[in-house]
Formats: sequence, structure tokens, C-alpha cells
Amino acid sequence: MTTQNIVPFISAAAQESTSEWVTALQEALPELTLISVTQLSLADRSRCTVAIVANPDPDVLKTFPNLVWVHSVWAGVERLVAELGPTKLKIVRMVDPALASTMAEAVLAWTLYLHRDMPAYRCQQRRGVWRQRAYVPAQEKTVGILGFGELGQAAAQRLLPSGFNVFAWSTTPSMLEGVTHFCGRDGLKQMLKKCNILVCLLPHTPKTAGLIDAELLACLPDSAALINFGRGPIINERDLRDALDCGRLDHAVLDVFNIEPLPEAHWEWNHPRVTILPHCSAPTNKQTAAKIVADRVRHYLMEGVVPSCVDVQKGY
Ligand SMILES: NC(=O)c1ccc[n+]([C@@H]2O[C@H](COP(=O)([O-])OP(=O)(O)OC[C@H]3O[C@@H](n4cnc5c(N)ncnc54)[C@H](OP(=O)(O)O)[C@@H]3O)[C@@H](O)[C@H]2O)c1
Repeated sequence: MTTQNIVPFISAAAQESTSEWVTALQEALPELTLISVTQLSLADRSRCTVAIVANPDPDVLKTFPNLVWVHSVWAGVERLVAELGPTKLKIVRMVDPALASTMAEAVLAWTLYLHRDMPAYRCQQRRGVWRQRAYVPAQEKTVGILGFGELGQAAAQRLLPSGFNVFAWSTTPSMLEGVTHFCGRDGLKQMLKKCNILVCLLPHTPKTAGLIDAELLACLPDSAALINFGRGPIINERDLRDALDCGRLDHAVLDVFNIEPLPEAHWEWNHPRVTILPHCSAPTNKQTAAKIVADRVRHYLMEGVVPSCVDVQKGY
């Protein structure tokens, strides 16, 4: 039980986005005072043991000497973990069924885009070509999901009813009915050999950085395609370009990049085998997210229980 009644919102984002979050969080926590960090005195900061954050400046976090934990409003906290370095501060990330459902919808949408040859038909249209391409039923296609956590499992549950064979790869095996699971590097290579569409939903950690390289891309069957909804640095960009240039990889749908926004002159913008999305596959829903954060903050302030945290050693 703590006497804290002010909950700061700490973000390096533009003022407009900060006030939208403060409004949504205040509505979800009417018994407390939600306040943007910029309006908080140093004395008030020292009374706070919990804060709600969205890409906070680590130096600003240091002005809260008694902070025990922070709740990020984002599902991916790779940047925060990396910027904070070794720390005693506990980090709680967003786990929201609404977000998982939005991501699952995006995975299904872009899987169907690739499955039904939309990039090729778009290209034919531009050239005025009337040609029906061979149709391969979903039952004859395998979608491999890299990372089988909150988002990967929700995606699998959306893909299975459409008829796709679904494979998954993660550190620990999972038992989701209808999904064939693979573990370890050898397991990954074995899985890739069968994947017509590979969906990356891994977090960016020291172990996943550059994971998808030339060696692994070469394991994929001919005409395979890639969807990256995890984080940009998981894919070796030079190896991706080589695989696309020689047609080894048929198409890549990319939502996340090493640098965001993607620089204007970047080769990916104009590559005929690339579809660019501006990190939009699963935006956080402020209303559902605010309720989830509110319940956890309230529970902590009443019972002193910190929710389950990110493992900063593992990075996710
Ligand atoms: N594009 C977007 O709009 C968007 C939105 C939200 C999130 N994301 C990204 O999606 C990522 C995943 O989110 P989530 O909620 O599903 O995370 P999660 O629940 O923590 O799941 C992560 C999964 O990745 C696996 N994994 C991690 N490191 C691995 C490794 N080295 N080898 C094999 N498997 C590994 C984990 O396996 P174990 O559990 O077995 O260790 C787990 O299955 C986030 O970190 C974020 O980067 C993107």
C-alpha cells in the first residue's frame, strides 16, 4: 500500500499525443491525478513509485529517485530496455488482447495479399497485362511464424481457419492445436524449408538482431515471401536485398525498419519486390490500453503488487 496519488505520464512524444494519453489514462483512473511529467515538480517526482511511460527519455526517468516500476503503453519495449541498460527499475509492457487481435488481423490481411499474388497483379495492371496466375489453395501453403508469444499465437489462431498450415518457432515449445512447433537453430532451418510465407513477430534482442540472414533466407523454398512485423534489425538488410534482387525471395512486406521513418532515399521504397508500411500493423488502442494500465496501477497502489515484468536480461 502506498500513499502516491499522482501518476506521471513520461513521454518524449509530441505534446498532442501526450495529452491524448493523459486524457485516456485520467478517464480510466478517475481516483488519481494523471499528469504529464513536464508539469511535475522535483518534490512531487520524489514521491512517485510508479509511472506510465511511452518512449521516455532515460534522463527524465532519473529525476524520479524512488521509482519502483514503469508501465509502458507499448507492447515492444526493446528501445527502453536498451536505453536504460542495467537497471533495478522494473519494466511492465502492454499486453492487450485488442492489440493482439489487431496484429492477428494484419498478419491475415498481408498473408492473403501475398497468397493471392496481389503484388504481381498490381504490377501486371501497371503494364496493362491480362494474365491469370496459377491458383494454389491455402491448404497447400505453409505460414511460418517466428516468435510465438502474445502476438504470434493470436496470428496463428487467425490463420488456421483460413486453411493455411501454420508452423511456429520460439525458444520454448508451445502446444497450440493445429500448429507445428520448432525450436533451436536446426529446428528453424527445418521449418524454413517448408514456409511459403514467413512472418516475423520476434522482439529485437541481442539474440535476434540480424537473425534472418543469407543462410536462413536460402533455406526458404522458391517464391517464398516475408512479412516483418517484429523489428527492423532482426532482418539482415543487405542479405534481404540480395535475396530480393535475385528473385530468391519473391516479396517482402515490411512494417518495421532499422531507421523510422524510413529515409526518403532508402532502396526499399522503390524496390519492386517490397511493400512498405509505416509501422502501422498493430497500433495501440488508447482506450483499451488505458484500462489495462489503470487496473495494474490501481492494484499496485492498493496491494503493493508489481505486475509481471519484462526480463531485462533477455530483453523481452
Ligand atoms: N509492428 C507493430 O506495430 C508491432 C506492435 C506490437 C509489437 N510489435 C513487436 O512484436 C514483438 C513481439 O510481441 P509479443 O507481445 O508477441 O511478445 P512476447 O509475448 O514476449 O513473445 C515473444 C516471442 O518471441 C520468442 N523469442 C524471443 N527471443 C527468441 C529467440 N532468440 N529465439 C526464439 N524465439 C524467441 C519468445 O519465445 P519464448 O517465450 O519461448 O522465450 C516468444 O514466443 C514485440 O517485441 C515488438 O517488437 C510490433
